Amino acid sequence: MSGPLVLGIETSCDETGVGIVRGTELLANVIASSMEEHARYGGVVPEVAARAHLEALAPTLQRALDDAGVSLQDLDAIAVTSGPGLAGALMVGVGAAKALALSLDKPLYAVNHLVGHVGADLLTGDDIEYPTVALLVSGGHTSLLLVRDLISDVELLGETIDDAAGEAFDKVARLLSLPYPGGPEIDRAAVGGDPTAIRFPRGLSLPKDMAQHRYDFSFSGLKTAVARWVEREQDAGAPVPVADVAASFREAVVDVLIAKALAACADLGVPRLLLGGGVVANARLRAVAEERCAAAGVELRIPPLSLCTDNGAMIAAIGSQLVAAGRAPSGLEFGADSTLPV
Ligand code: KG4
Ligand code: ZN
Repeated sequence: MSGPLVLGIETSCDETGVGIVRGTELLANVIASSMEEHARYGGVVPEVAARAHLEALAPTLQRALDDAGVSLQDLDAIAVTSGPGLAGALMVGVGAAKALALSLDKPLYAVNHLVGHVGADLLTGDDIEYPTVALLVSGGHTSLLLVRDLISDVELLGETIDDAAGEAFDKVARLLSLPYPGGPEIDRAAVGGDPTAIRFPRGLSLPKDMAQHRYDFSFSGLKTAVARWVEREQDAGAPVPVADVAASFREAVVDVLIAKALAACADLGVPRLLLGGGVVANARLRAVAEERCAAAGVELRIPPLSLCTDNGAMIAAIGSQLVAAGRAPSGLEFGADSTLPV
């Protein structure tokens, strides 16, 4: 395979990611996570994340170069996540990428983190067919995108108006006295639970008069509903049926995520759905997506988990597309934008 040799740097949340690609060929994808440092706070602490990036970035870069068997001088370009994400965390990656680009005299490309998640699919070896709907679910974002072209035409259809889906998993896990990160814990706790035991609310679920929120999500009401339900049981002196609560909560999240993604596919006549983000690790989400996509005649694509969670390779993949398309580099003036739109 051939194509531009591009380094990608990702520091938007708690993963320090450095990836190297040649065209759409994955040469290295090294990730250092500060997740354990955040565990005792029950969620990502921005200041802790930024400091961890500062410590992890140089060794992560070195490992990526070693894995790929290339040197910095070999690179055709450098790509970096410029947003959205945690401002201080983003600044570490953007600062490092600018220093590298300036000292090596290499073109630098600013990449949108959400577009990067879609770009991860390029590294699976298959071409992305357009248009496609993409559902990105992690601890930091829950976004539904219409992708007509990865580097020139990505439209945000909707997003969460409060908590991200992963954040809801983390908060509900805490309510159930399960450790952080909550997603895998809820997945484990739900084994043997009855997903129909408790009917938790589906936020912003599709009534006609909600047209303006048709593709948006809301998970804070669900979290509150779980909290109230657990409190009531405890007040009544009953043991909390953790497996049933976990399974019912997970079902509510998964149901609304897939229902809205497939509503977008149907409304827009797009028979393809791409999933990305750390919540894609969820066993029930994968099963429901497969089942309902098959029933709706929608082709489902889920990259391997190492490419679904935050990583530098997906950012490099977009950089490589930009170079191949002859796009002008971003220059050295851009900043880190925590609310960067797609
Ligand atoms: O993409 P990611 O690694 O980092 C960002 O948040 O950007 O996603 C982490 C999120 C956490 O909120 C975690 O609880 C959630 O993904 N997660 C899961 C599962 N594994 C990780 N959520 C549900 N089920 C899982 N199995
Ligand atoms: Zn992400």
